[in-house]
This record gives sequence, C-alpha cells and structure tokens, in this order.
Amino acid sequence: MTHSTTVFAHTHAIIDLAALKHNADIVRQSAPNSKIMAVIKADAYGHGMLEVANALSSVDGYAVARVHEAISLREAGIKKPILVLMGFATSDEVSMFSRHDLDAVIHNEHQLELLNSSVIAQPISVWLKINTGMNRLGVDAPEVRRLNDIMALSGKVRLPIKLMTHLACADDMNSNMTEAQIQLFDQSVDGLVGEQSITNSAGIIGWKYAQRQWVRPGIMLYGGNPFSSGKAEELGLKPVMTLKSNVVSLRSVKKGQSVGYGASWAPNRTSLIATIGIGYGDGYPRHAAHGTPVVIGGQKAPLVGRVSMDSINVDVSQCRNISIGDEAILWGEGLPIDDVAENSETISYELMCGITERVNRRYQESDNGE
Ligand SMILES: Cc1ncc(COP(=O)(O)O)c(C=O)c1O
Repeated sequence: MTHSTTVFAHTHAIIDLAALKHNADIVRQSAPNSKIMAVIKADAYGHGMLEVANALSSVDGYAVARVHEAISLREAGIKKPILVLMGFATSDEVSMFSRHDLDAVIHNEHQLELLNSSVIAQPISVWLKINTGMNRLGVDAPEVRRLNDIMALSGKVRLPIKLMTHLACADDMNSNMTEAQIQLFDQSVDGLVGEQSITNSAGIIGWKYAQRQWVRPGIMLYGGNPFSSGKAEELGLKPVMTLKSNVVSLRSVKKGQSVGYGASWAPNRTSLIATIGIGYGDGYPRHAAHGTPVVIGGQKAPLVGRVSMDSINVDVSQCRNISIGDEAILWGEGLPIDDVAENSETISYELMCGITERVNRRYQESDNGE
C-alpha cells in the first residue's frame, strides 16, 4: 500500500476468488470421478456465502448447515442442488425443503416422523446419514435398512435415497478410525443403490478409495490445511482470505515498562512497538500467544502483550523502516492462517468463521494486491 500518515485502521479482508477457483481445481484433480458439493456453511467459512457460491460455478452443488442459509442462496438465484447438513427440525421446515427444492440430511428417526406427518407438494431429495463412529448426527448402522425402507415407502422422498457419513479423524493419517468408519459405512449400505458421499477435505486427499459419487470439501477450498500436520501449500492450496490492517502507532518501550492489558509482556531492552488496528472485536484471536507472527511492511515480527478488542502490539525492533500507516498482514498471503491458529490453540476454521461484520470483505479475482 502507499504509505500515508493516517492513524485510522483500514482493517479488511481480501477474498481472492482466483485462489478459491484454483483450490476447487485441486479438488477436481484429487477426485476426478466425483461430483463436488462445496461446503459453504457459516457464510462460506467467513468468506461470504453468495460471493463464494457464484465464484464456484464449476462445482456440482453446495452444502450448508441450516435451512435459512439454503433459502437465501435460492432467493439469490442459485439453481444447483443445495444440501442442508442439519436437515429439518420442524414440519414448517419440511415444507420449506419441498418449496425450495432443497436436499435434506436425515440423521435421526424423529425427522422421519416429521416427514410422514407433513403435507408437501413435491417429494424431497434426501440423504440418509449413517453414524459410523462420529456419534454426533446419523442413524446407527443396524437401523439403516429399516429407516431407508420406511422413507422409500412414504411417498415423500425422491428415490433412490442417497447415503452419507462423516469422518471423525480423517485429518490424522495414522488413525485407524477412518478405515473402520468406511468399512462400517460400506457394510450398512450394501445392496442400496443411492449415490454416496463420505469425504470432507482431508478424506478427499487422504482416503481416495472413499471418494464415491460426491465429495464434500470445505477447508481446502479456502486454502486451510485439512490435516493436523504439514502445510496447506505443500498440497498446492492457496490462501483465499488475507486479513489486513495497518500500523496506527509506533512507540519505543524501555526495559522496565510493559505493553498492554495485564502488563503481560515486558521487553528486556528498549524495543520499538507497533500498534496494529485489529483486535478480537474483528475476530483476531484473543488467545494468540506472544510470538504469534504478523507481517508488517513485508517483514515477519512477533505479537507481544495481550490482544485487545481493537488493537494488537507487535515488536518491530528487528524490522527495517516501519512507519505509521504501513500495511500489516495478520494471515493469508505470505503468512499461513494455520501458523496463527497453532499459536492461538485453535484451527483455521475457527479463525475464518470468526471474522466479524465490521471487517470489510474486498473481493478480487487475482492475487496481484489490491
Ligand atoms: C458433514 C460435513 N461434511 C463436510 C464438511 C467439510 O469439512 P472440511 O471443511 O474439513 O472439508 C463438514 C464441515 O464441517 C461437514 O460438517
């Protein structure tokens, strides 16, 4: 950015739609025989649901968590299949699925009762979700046949019923759980003819034999590392969100003084501290530890002191030519979000989803800067 003497923070998130499409291409190359259901719930992991849906015109469908997310996509003119991962919870919602032609996950018997007692104009497209070990949502394996047959006879669903499960440990290639889950899924759907879906991002890359007719990538589309180790960039993924702010104040802090709330950090020699106009009120993690990297004026420097609501402090003593107004990158281009997540005892998903409304999203098609 051009240097100015402004002391106002221009905190914003650049959303690089070219990087998003590039990551979707990686999904396509990783699962060439599967249809792609892009997971765009929670405002597309904080990237903007509609903008992401429109940019991902090459995918075959979308997945969201809640029915109102799906309806807003339909109202915005999205015509492709939309799967609502939580399904419906009331009979009013059942009619919304029928009216808006939404796919529902059926994950418990209560939903079947709702479906049977509802009056709907058009049958609904459903995915029967099987609990293969996650023990969160899903019908238990021995119940699959019975519930499938009840639905099939209800006249309320389109046939054949589709079949899915969700992997609990796909991010860990050393876990035995994933194979056990896939095996249980295969046993429980044996003989059923509906399309299948098992894999999230880690599953797509790490467990190729489980790709089936549909894959459900989320984090890899946004350039986060789906695995608990390694780096997103080693998988060819590019960061989509770059979170930026700027230096709003510079001061010299002497040995014996401290920085920020709780006086939790003190330099052991005179240090130059840059205050950046971003804080937990913008979604920067309050638990980011001392030493979390921040890029200022193109140079990496450590966060010091506690994260405040509107600002953070960075020790720029080792950096050259830092001025008020300089751009700070909190994550994204040149600073993997996974590095910040690791320093904050969280995961990239939470950081992306946590960006608050006061952070303006700026959409761009290429990564040549603003
Ligand atoms: C059922 C289901 N499928 C797929 C995904 C996408 O997972 P990931 O972002 O790890 O690719 C999620 C995300 O939480 C999910 O809940």
